[in-house]
Amino acid sequence: MNASSPHPFRRTRRNQEGRFRTLHIAAGRSLHIVAVKVVGGSASVALAHGIAKELAAPYVEVAFERHPGGFPDGERYVRLLSAVAGDHVILVQTTHPDPMIVEFLLLADAIRDAGARRITAIVPYFGYGRQDKRFLEGEAISAKTIAKHIAVDCDELLTMAVPANPEILKIFPLPTREVSGMPAIGRYLKSAKVDVILAPDEGALRLAKEASSIAGVPFDFLVKERIDSYTVKIEPKALAVRGKSVGIVDDVISTGGTIATAAKELKAQGARRVIAACVHGLFVDQAEEKLRACDDVIATDTVQSKHTKVSVASEFAAAIRTLL
Ligand code: R5P
Repeated sequence: MNASSPHPFRRTRRNQEGRFRTLHIAAGRSLHIVAVKVVGGSASVALAHGIAKELAAPYVEVAFERHPGGFPDGERYVRLLSAVAGDHVILVQTTHPDPMIVEFLLLADAIRDAGARRITAIVPYFGYGRQDKRFLEGEAISAKTIAKHIAVDCDELLTMAVPANPEILKIFPLPTREVSGMPAIGRYLKSAKVDVILAPDEGALRLAKEASSIAGVPFDFLVKERIDSYTVKIEPKALAVRGKSVGIVDDVISTGGTIATAAKELKAQGARRVIAACVHGLFVDQAEEKLRACDDVIATDTVQSKHTKVSVASEFAAAIRTLL
């Protein structure tokens, strides 16, 4: 069933084990009880387990290798290890790196073929979300390309901190909602007792503002100029950071250039401690080396890394509850 098809009647109940069940009463007045189940792709197993726990929903195990070691040429394999026929399946899979996109598509297809009634895609980190426009003739609008393929089998999409302008979500060919990861980051920064939260550029200002409202501290932003993919310049801005513990928040840490440059500038202005926090930690190339400029680096579990210190499971689970 596609999300655009009408639901004559839908409501949600918890059964005795506290599991969510959605009741659909079809036009013919026959009653179907639809269980909510969670499936995690291999990029998002830990987060998917967390979401299942939050929802008290069964977790459907998946085999990712047909033979030990997988296919020698690197192709992906998936097999659902329990039934999903008639169920509302929450498929959780980050579309990064590229093989995880293929795995997402294999899972969505297998879930649909197995008879799921409804598929909600949670793409915690939307890989290829950067290109939201055709800047030069002949380019692909990559974010739309990926969304188009997600829409083949999925009824709706939840994602987080899309690197591009969030307006892109409006042209996706399936209902899409952005869920904020800032509550999780704000709670961490509050427990770390930061005095102020900064965005490394104006684009991340909305993130800093939201995190600061949770941490209960002031916020501001720095002025960034990107020279190339690896180099950024942060304009000195006289901020009252001397002797303070500062949290810098961004959507993505990729090469680490933005955060490291901001951290050096803040240290030069006398900041006592700099904690870098991001939703999606990619940490490519020499990022680890550059991030030595920070006293602590934290990322959420949208992308798993050694810096994953907070989970956004409760944020996604809360969004799912509104759909049931
Ligand atoms: C871009 O404006 C984003 O918000 C991030 O600041 C950027 O993607 C981070 O990239 P990097 O870690 O390579 O500087």
